[in-house]
Amino acid sequence: MPYANLLIETAGGIRGITIHRPDKLNALNRETVSELRSAFDQAATDPRVRVIVLSGSGPKAFVAGADISELAKLSPVEALEFSRYGQELMLRIERFGKPVIAKIQGFALGGGMELAMACHLRIASDAAKIGQPEINLGILPGFGGTQRLLRLAGRSAALELCLLGHHIGAQRAYELGALTRVVAADQLDAEVQKLAEQLAASAPQALRGVLDAVLIGGETHIEAGLDYESQAFAICAATADMKEGTSAFLEKRKPVFRGQ
Ligand code: COA
Repeated sequence: MPYANLLIETAGGIRGITIHRPDKLNALNRETVSELRSAFDQAATDPRVRVIVLSGSGPKAFVAGADISELAKLSPVEALEFSRYGQELMLRIERFGKPVIAKIQGFALGGGMELAMACHLRIASDAAKIGQPEINLGILPGFGGTQRLLRLAGRSAALELCLLGHHIGAQRAYELGALTRVVAADQLDAEVQKLAEQLAASAPQALRGVLDAVLIGGETHIEAGLDYESQAFAICAATADMKEGTSAFLEKRKPVFRGQ
């Protein structure tokens, strides 16, 4: 499906979704949020897609936030609706049953950081700049930033970044727990490609089990999380991929997981 603000490509089980508004530093206007929702819905049921790499067009930004020209015109009722609309996208990505990698080459600010935090792995260039600068606009994060930053980096970092609204470098964001990995700028594409290839070659049901158990477990008490883990573990035992993985180990060969 053609999108006005997204570029889509698929190769070797890897679906690239690139937010393409480079002249606006890939800011998330409502149309882009809507297109992202469609793109994730489509990828969910497409068996060719084993992993998603989400990125922003151009060298300067992953995403520089929600589109401020649209924010400026919101009534309170529209603001509530827009916030919920964005939050639903972030939840959709977070609870997407296939791994989603955010490739962050420049600014990931406001809604951009919120989008990255909804992804499962955040790989950033050492030149990337991270922040929740909404306070400087007289608002606060509205796409889940207060909640996901709190969960990823803790109360101290969430309050610091959301109250003060300054940008921090990728290395500090990594040290706070807000990024998965920081790599040299010229290594970013290769590093993300390597991780995506590894995930695309892994057993999809096992990946889904990890995603669901960790994400559900993080929001519940341990008995419920452990129970979820056991159920997901049992489902893997019904897959051909589990037979393949264990047989390959015993036969001293590399497994080939077919997603069955
Ligand atoms: N919404 C709408 N437009 C945005 C935007 C956003 N969040 N972020 C950047 N843009 C636009 C700029 O308005 C500018 O458009 P123009 O050329 O038509 O004037 C273009 O993208 C380039 O941005 P510019 O500000 O000129 O680049 P810069 O290198 O001087 O600064 C930033 C880069 C990221 C520091 C700066 O753009 C910025 O602070 N953006 C807003 C970040 C923010 O507050 N995000 C949270 C929103 S809730």
